[in-house]
Amino acid sequence: MARPKIALIGAGQIGGTLAHLAAIKELGDVVLFDIAEGTPQGKSLDIAQSGPSEGFDATMKGTNDYADIAGADVCIVTAGVPRKPGMSRDDLLGINLKVMKSVGEGIKAHAPNAFVICITNPLDAMVWALREFSGLPHNMVVGMAGVLDSARFRHFLSVEFNVSMRDVTAFVLGGHGDTMVPLTRYSTVAGIPLPDLVQMGWTTQEKLDAIVQRTRDGGAEIVGLLKTGSAFYAPATSAIEMAEAFLKDQKRLLPCAAYVKGAYGLDGLYVGVPTIIGKNGIERIVDIKLNAAEQAMMDKSVDAVKGLVAACKGIDPSLA
Ligand code: APR
Repeated sequence: MARPKIALIGAGQIGGTLAHLAAIKELGDVVLFDIAEGTPQGKSLDIAQSGPSEGFDATMKGTNDYADIAGADVCIVTAGVPRKPGMSRDDLLGINLKVMKSVGEGIKAHAPNAFVICITNPLDAMVWALREFSGLPHNMVVGMAGVLDSARFRHFLSVEFNVSMRDVTAFVLGGHGDTMVPLTRYSTVAGIPLPDLVQMGWTTQEKLDAIVQRTRDGGAEIVGLLKTGSAFYAPATSAIEMAEAFLKDQKRLLPCAAYVKGAYGLDGLYVGVPTIIGKNGIERIVDIKLNAAEQAMMDKSVDAVKGLVAACKGIDPSLA
């Protein structure tokens, strides 16, 4: 049986890391696409040459031609410009909207059956625009944010509690931005919810609040340290987890920026919600009950995403 084909649109920091991870995990043959001439070819050759030591047989191809992504099973999109210090994700809107138009058209023409994972920021608006430009079914176009935000939350919690990250589960909903909604009562250490752990004296409410805030600012903290770009290792790992759930029909329950119509009282909007990912892409949206405080945070987050979508429509009237 032929190996799955994984097309990575954007061969920058995240794209290169995605290619390396996909190869090491032998998820399939990899095509790395970028408009920059030489970059995808150079990175592909470099990664292919790690194969003998790592022991993988996946093929790697770098290209500047969309025709090479033909028939891809998965497309992961990182094309665009990352944040610089002082820039918000929203500042990227105008630049990356144009990029989504060309990428969406490329996917529509050459890989219309792919499961498409968007990483380009501002995430919730870009995944919406990519879906519009590509015309693919909504269940096959999804944004990567919640897995990363939850991973950041899990990391901070494991350090606070001095327990393995494997035993910490966490839930982060809403838009990928300052209004994201970390849900402490659905986050646990081996099933013990965080509010119980506060009562048990494992941490204090103040410390937990600080961790929630650090999670919200998780991307900015890294931008501030790197100064020349944004995070790439954990974003790439998070998207690979989603791609693997699709390729192996794992039915993973992962928080993703998915198209929500009906659930959460929404009438057709891309926003971070718990989803089940299997061979049919987004197979289910898990409509959990929120309490009043959580709903208020979610409403604020939804409003922020709606504002970005409206801004996209203002910039490109074809989206209106
Ligand atoms: N088509 C294809 N590739 C493009 C296009 C385009 N129209 N425009 C830019 N690119 C490529 C650039 O040439 C570059 O190689 O996208 C790549 C982006 O890589 P980096 O600048 O290294 O950015 P990266 O850190 O990978 O982040 C990519 O993901 O998390 C988000 O905010 C981040 O939007 C950013 C994206």
